[in-house]
Amino acid sequence: MKKILLTLTLALIASTSFAQDIKLPVPNMKQQSLSVVEALQTRHSVRDFDAAKELTDQELSNLCWAACGVARDENHRTAPTARNLQEIRLFAFTKKAVYEYDAKANVLKKKADGDHRALMASNGGNAGFRQDFVMDAPVTLLMVIDYDLFGSQNELAMQMGCVDAGNVSENINLYCQSVGLATVPRATHDKDGIRKLLGFTDKQLPIMNNPVGYEKK
Ligand SMILES: Cc1cc2nc3c(=O)[nH]c(=O)nc-3n(C[C@H](O)[C@H](O)[C@H](O)COP(=O)(O)O)c2cc1C
Repeated sequence: MKKILLTLTLALIASTSFAQDIKLPVPNMKQQSLSVVEALQTRHSVRDFDAAKELTDQELSNLCWAACGVARDENHRTAPTARNLQEIRLFAFTKKAVYEYDAKANVLKKKADGDHRALMASNGGNAGFRQDFVMDAPVTLLMVIDYDLFGSQNELAMQMGCVDAGNVSENINLYCQSVGLATVPRATHDKDGIRKLLGFTDKQLPIMNNPVGYEKK
């Protein structure tokens, strides 16, 4: 009897935590958008976000897919990576929680409760430089180089990780421009604070982020 109760309790705990993940709708491949050439011609950084305008789950799905979702077949992504090692992990910081994008499952998996967007405002410590506008963006997408996935942390791995993260960030830049969303690619964030929150070791390097939302008019 005790065993059954324990199993039921564990199952309940598991289903509760899964319930906090976000199963994203299928990305919309037919959405209205500028051509690649038009997006290239007009892309620009925006640092003034409308804090009152959230993104829908459909918009989040489209955005994460554009960043580094599954494309062509199960083994390829919208963003290329060196030797197709797919070592860039994507995290979404929202008002409610921090999630990791699971591209194959099309799910945002919850990694931490609460609003941690302030970790994106500065480089942490006593650094004076702050960009509090990031707290107005409903979501900030963070790119993390995972050297465990790359299989090495030598100089070449470090270089390739940076290039690959840049590819993901540029996908976000061009996608946002093409559908009327606002973003800015950024290297400012509190690496140590993020590492602590998400339980990273020195094998995971937060490298770039893109706050995304609607521009304040
Ligand atoms: C690697 C990289 C790091 C950046 N870091 C920041 C940043 O921390 N904060 C910021 O406001 N903009 C940042 N930017 C945005 C640049 O300042 C911006 O892209 C540049 O001024 C050109 O403007 P544009 O994007 O409108 O063409 C960064 C851009 C890149 C490519």
